[in-house]
Amino acid sequence: MRQRTCLAIVLAAGEGTRMRSALPKVLHPLGGRPLIEHVLDAIGHAGASEIAVVVGPNHDAILALVHKRLPKAHIFTQSERLGTAHAVLTARQAIARKQDDILVLFADTPLVRAETLKKLRDALGQGAAVAVLGFNAADPTGYGRLVMRGGELLAIREQRDATPEERKIGFCNGGLMALAGEHALAILERITNTNAKGEYYLTDAVAIAHDMGLKALAIETGEDDVRGINTKAQLAEAEAVLQDRLRSAALEAGVTMTAPHTVFLSADTKFGRDVTIEPNVVFGPGVTVEDGALIRSFSHLEGAHVGKGARVGPYARLRPGAELGADVHIGNFVEVKAAQIEAGAKANHLAYIGDARVGAGANIGAGTITCNYDGIAKHRTDIGAGAFIGSNSSLVAPVKIGDGAYVGSGSVVTTNVPAGALAVARAVQTVKEGWAKRLRQIKSMGKKKPAKPA
Ligand code: UD1
Ligand code: MG
Repeated sequence: MRQRTCLAIVLAAGEGTRMRSALPKVLHPLGGRPLIEHVLDAIGHAGASEIAVVVGPNHDAILALVHKRLPKAHIFTQSERLGTAHAVLTARQAIARKQDDILVLFADTPLVRAETLKKLRDALGQGAAVAVLGFNAADPTGYGRLVMRGGELLAIREQRDATPEERKIGFCNGGLMALAGEHALAILERITNTNAKGEYYLTDAVAIAHDMGLKALAIETGEDDVRGINTKAQLAEAEAVLQDRLRSAALEAGVTMTAPHTVFLSADTKFGRDVTIEPNVVFGPGVTVEDGALIRSFSHLEGAHVGKGARVGPYARLRPGAELGADVHIGNFVEVKAAQIEAGAKANHLAYIGDARVGAGANIGAGTITCNYDGIAKHRTDIGAGAFIGSNSSLVAPVKIGDGAYVGSGSVVTTNVPAGALAVARAVQTVKEGWAKRLRQIKSMGKKKPAKPA
């Protein structure tokens, strides 16, 4: 059978005023990824062959993101916010190409899963002209109500236009909708704005399809799938739902977590086999953890790659560009940024390694700092394989420490150290025999202001 084609239209023209933020609503992060990206991902997995995004005026930041993620997406601008059907019709050009299935999604409803979208498409495949997502709302206030007769969907009544009888209906409209491409334009063009809000309601598509002798139906789904985000509180609730999904998926994939509810993941966090994560770990975007690695408590990772069998933390911070090779140890209060730590190297305590390479098997002592910033530009530090950096050393970049070299504790290293050499760069120690003893004697003689012993 020929595969059905699909146009997905994402509505993102809303102002999002209730977020009380300078950032457009659909760019707020959920699981470390902007809301609209979750929707674009779900669409991709539901097999959309063409994507249209409807934005409001002055939404350049949204345009830039869509363009970067999906260069082929069509962008339409809704200059006046006249309702959901009006927003859909700004994509008229794309709709007119009559793809088999048309999916309408809201960019602020990010938790919809691809399998739910597929169910909507299947309904079209089986002959429905309109299919909507229905859910039994804990509190239906504000949602459109699904007016059913048997298995058939007759109409959707918006809260403001519903009769008291209709308002008692608990089966609500999730908002997202699928329309058969061959009828979509005919249906959409019949929608008017004669209602309480004076808006063109997409939801009227149901009653119109019915009048045209076409079939409309509701696919039941869970409330989480259609959770819309209008406020920061709803954003936090959606985050909780997403975190649960991500943790379950990680456990399912074999990750060991003793307290999964204390571990925060990003939508793109990737784990290999037999990874263990102790309680209270945060994964920002862009982290991959390979087989057998251990991430200990209170570590924070972002944009980092953790190699096979590596150990991180407790209390470690991996910042973007941290690349740990196999069996690397990064211990407590160690920060790594834009640095390659090669296989078997160790930095077990209290260090900053930024803009650097640490060669295989090297040992970075406690208190080592790569001084990468001179106030104007960043510079690199290159530490060779098997090198030993003594505790409390400052490596002033740009600087190279050769393979197998030693740096004595407390050094301030400003020039390159050849392979196999020892570099000690610190104040010379002076020892004054008997000095302390004499000081105590002077004090015990009861002088008010003891002179310092020479
Ligand atoms: C909509 C549904 C309602 C459903 C609810 C589920 C309609 C008429 N009503 O109501 O039945 O229960 O979702 O959450 O569809 N948008 C535009 N341009 C516009 C208007 C809206 O792009 O002119 C976008 C918004 O940015 C948003 C989406 O469409 O992403 C939905 O609009 P919204 O005003 O939130 O609709 P609801 O009143 O929630
Ligand atoms: Mg809404």
